[in-house]
Amino acid sequence: MNSRKISVQTRDLTKRFGRFTAVNRVSLQVYEGEIFGFLGANGAGKTTLIRMLTGLLKPSEGEGFVAGYDIWRQAEAIKRHIGYMSQRFSLYEDLTAEENLTFYGGIYGLNRRDIENRKRELFAHVGLQPFANQMTRDLPLGFKQRLALACALLHDPPIVFLDEPTSGVDPRARRNFWNLIYQTAQLGKTVFVTTHFMDEAEYCHRVGIMHMGKIIALGAPGRLKQKYRKSTMQDVFIELHRLSEEQA
Ligand SMILES: Nc1ncnc2c1ncn2[C@@H]1O[C@H](COP(=O)(O)OP(=O)(O)O)[C@@H](O)[C@H]1O
Ligand SMILES: [Mg+2]
Repeated sequence: MNSRKISVQTRDLTKRFGRFTAVNRVSLQVYEGEIFGFLGANGAGKTTLIRMLTGLLKPSEGEGFVAGYDIWRQAEAIKRHIGYMSQRFSLYEDLTAEENLTFYGGIYGLNRRDIENRKRELFAHVGLQPFANQMTRDLPLGFKQRLALACALLHDPPIVFLDEPTSGVDPRARRNFWNLIYQTAQLGKTVFVTTHFMDEAEYCHRVGIMHMGKIIALGAPGRLKQKYRKSTMQDVFIELHRLSEEQA
C-alpha cells in the first residue's frame, strides 16, 4: 500500500466559520485507485472538507495536496484534475440527459468529437443509454445520480469527489450506485466519497470517520471492526460515538 502514489494528502487541515470550527485538524492520505469513504452524521464537516479539497473554499489553516497540487495556491489546476459531484448536484432539469453531458463537456473545454466519444463511453459506463433522450426532470433520482457522476467524469479526471451521492434513494439504487463506484475505481480512478450511511463504510477500501469536525477513526473497515471488536461498521460507529461522549 505504501508504495502506491498518493492522490490526496492533508495535514491539520482546518476550517473555521467565525468562532465555529467545522473541520478540525484533519490529516489523511488517500492512495491512487482507492475508494476512500468519508463518514459522518449531518453537520460533521464532510462537505466543508470536500469544498477545501476541490479548491472551492480556502482553508483557515493546515496543508492539503490534491493530484499533486497545493490547495492554497493551485486551486485552478486542481479543478482541472478532479471530478466533483456535489451534494445538490446541478443538472439542468429541462435538458435531456445527453444535452446535460454536452453542456458540461463545453464547460470543461472538450471539443465536439471528444464530447461525442465521451458521451458514448459514459452512457455505457453508468448504464444510461436508454434514457439519453429523456428530459432530466423525468429521470428517477437514482438515474439523475448516475448522470451527475457521468458529468463529473467527462474530462477523465484521475480523482473524483462524490458528496453523498447515494442520499435519498432506496437500498437497491444505493447498491447499484456502489457497483458503479467500483467500476469507476477499476478504471484506475481514486474515489473520495462521503456518506452518512454507516453500512456503506463496508464497501470502501478505507474510511475516515468524522465527528464534529474531527477524524475519530481512520483505516480499513476490517481493521476497525477488529480494533473495536464489532461485527459491523454500524456497531463500530455506535461504539466510537459512545467513546467520544465519555470523553466529552
Ligand atoms: N458557510 C458556512 N458558514 C457557517 N457555518 C457553516 C458554513 N458551511 C458549513 N457550516 C457549518 O459547518 C458544519 C459542517 O457542515 P458540513 O460540512 O456541511 O457538514 P456535513 O457535510 O458533514 O453535513 C455545520 O455545523 C454547518 O452548519
Ligand atoms: Mg454535506
